[in-house]
Amino acid sequence: MQMPDLAAHGVPTPPMLRHAPEGVEIAIRNLGRSFGGQRVLVNLDLDVAPGEFLSIVGKSGCGKSTLLRLVAGLDRPTSGSVTVGGLPAHEAGDHLRIMFQEPRLLPWASVAENVAIGLPRGPDPRAVAEALEQVQLADKAGFWPAQLSGGQRQRAALARALVSHPGLLLLDEPLGALDALTRLTMQNLIRDMHDRAGFTAILVTHDVAEAVALSDRVIVLGQGGILTETRILRAGPTTRGSAELAAIETGILDAIFAR
Ligand SMILES: Nc1ncnc2c1ncn2[C@@H]1O[C@H](COP(=O)(O)OP(=O)(O)O)[C@@H](O)[C@H]1O
Ligand SMILES: [Mg+2]
Repeated sequence: MQMPDLAAHGVPTPPMLRHAPEGVEIAIRNLGRSFGGQRVLVNLDLDVAPGEFLSIVGKSGCGKSTLLRLVAGLDRPTSGSVTVGGLPAHEAGDHLRIMFQEPRLLPWASVAENVAIGLPRGPDPRAVAEALEQVQLADKAGFWPAQLSGGQRQRAALARALVSHPGLLLLDEPLGALDALTRLTMQNLIRDMHDRAGFTAILVTHDVAEAVALSDRVIVLGQGGILTETRILRAGPTTRGSAELAAIETGILDAIFAR
């Protein structure tokens, strides 16, 4: 397909990435982040493969959100580096999206207008309609956020995050405020979207079962670095609740509470 020359029309084009628009690779080298005298991350090395779904678990305050903010380019390392698709994280912002526990929708804009905010080059009604369709909110396009349930608001936030087809989706406890059944529905939706779109995903969660259900790999963060990492080979989507996954969960919980 012939791409329009956006630069010729004064539209800034983002720096080129390796593997765009599918999953981008992440390389974290010798990463350190301190706040005053407190060393939160120390000499951390981590590679995430294009299209991988990685989860980060660990005790509260161990630095999970700090690490995610560094990958998002919302914060700068004290030492070391983070590259996203070969670019320094703070230059890769157009290619990644982040979701938090609160959906952070604009209350005075419709659901469709909120989703359109995810498009850096302005509104594209077809793309917005497609994103809303994928999160099963097509019939709520004209609603206000206040007219949605908590789960529907988080689905709108997911549509806003994915409407631009980012190479990387970062999730910081995105389902933490939802009830248990809505959580399961959202987990399945995130997994489906990942399978379909092929972006790289990093999920921070305090829910080890959620991490195991969604991820290809789970790392336990603690004492400034990675304590353990566990690869999860899944036979199919029906394995949730199986004895194998339960044993993996127990191993991860032991690693979190070992020290
Ligand atoms: N901007 C900041 N200024 C000072 N301290 C911070 C800042 N951000 C995080 N911290 C500290 O870094 C540690 C890790 O925080 P955080 O990454 O939010 O933990 P987690 O997400 O694992 O619960 C905490 O002790 C927190 O107080
Ligand atoms: Mg956190």
